[in-house]
Amino acid sequence: MTPEQFVAGLPKAELHMHLEGSIEPDLFLRLARRNGVDIRWSTEAELRAAYSFDDLQDFLNLYYDGCRVLVQSQDFHDVTREYLHRAHADRVLHAEMFLGVQGHTTRGVAPATIMDGVLGAMDEALAEDGISSGLIVVAQRHRSEAEALELLDSLAPWYDRLMGFGLGGAEVGHPPRKFAEFFRRCRALGFKVVAHAGEEGPAGYVREAVELLQVQRVDHGNACVDDAALVAELAQSRIPLTMCPLSNLRLHVVPSVAAHPLKRLLDAGLCVTVNSDDPSYFGGYVNDNYLACQVALGLERADLVRLARNSFEAAFISEERRAFALRAIDAWSAEAEAEVQGAARAEAT
Ligand code: ADE
Ligand code: ZN
Repeated sequence: MTPEQFVAGLPKAELHMHLEGSIEPDLFLRLARRNGVDIRWSTEAELRAAYSFDDLQDFLNLYYDGCRVLVQSQDFHDVTREYLHRAHADRVLHAEMFLGVQGHTTRGVAPATIMDGVLGAMDEALAEDGISSGLIVVAQRHRSEAEALELLDSLAPWYDRLMGFGLGGAEVGHPPRKFAEFFRRCRALGFKVVAHAGEEGPAGYVREAVELLQVQRVDHGNACVDDAALVAELAQSRIPLTMCPLSNLRLHVVPSVAAHPLKRLLDAGLCVTVNSDDPSYFGGYVNDNYLACQVALGLERADLVRLARNSFEAAFISEERRAFALRAIDAWSAEAEAEVQGAARAEAT
């Protein structure tokens, strides 16, 4: 069994992806046409050629502009359904998806338009493919904390359908402490909380997210490697890092996947997970990320299994579902091992 085949059949959870970052060029063009939205590109090739970025801000400029093609409920439905189809094909059993509601409401789209489309597609994916999913609303960190609090209030009608809240967007200059009250409110309401930290920002932002915001997971977290004490604390607490190697490569957070800290942190005992972030912009879904790491970091099959197990340890799911997923990983590992043994026997005879 090749690494590609092993990764393809490995049951996994994806915990760090932005729905708005999963609009494939063909869907992007269809949505622009459907809604009469003026865009700079007319072919998929032109769009793909535009996906070359200097850094996070350069990417965010295009990403926020791209959100203009999402107008009607059906658009939010289609983006969500297409991502969940694609994730299911990668043997993702469970996905936790980020939604940047402010990027739409500030353009005049009503929260109900967004939520009806996304939640309907999530229900459909569960019924049709058996893939479970959760929704995490991210506040944009370049906006004020007051706006984040307004966002929280505006979503009250959907609290029972939301898993949690997070923090995304331009990191440097917008430290976690700027959102301390927002996170306190989210936690008091019983939501799971996560935050992007240590992607372009320093190790201090990761520490602040953990200690001040009391996040249950850190999104990215790369910069923790600069603080040995923090690495030891993260290993001890098992607060997961949702890492995104191909995103980090495309946004120049790392010079190469070979230089990515994922394997070092995995070996140090942290609950590291592999995710796609914005798959259509960064040229890879979750399995592409696993495989890029396997090749560049020389991951063994046991490392791939550890990463998949971590994804379910880190997921906001019931213990029953976690146990089911871990058994599915064991079954797949046993199948792969039996194939290796069978091939060895065939060679010996
Ligand atoms: N929003 C979408 N992708 C992001 C990333 N890589 N970092 C921060 N915010 C984002
Ligand atoms: Zn992200």
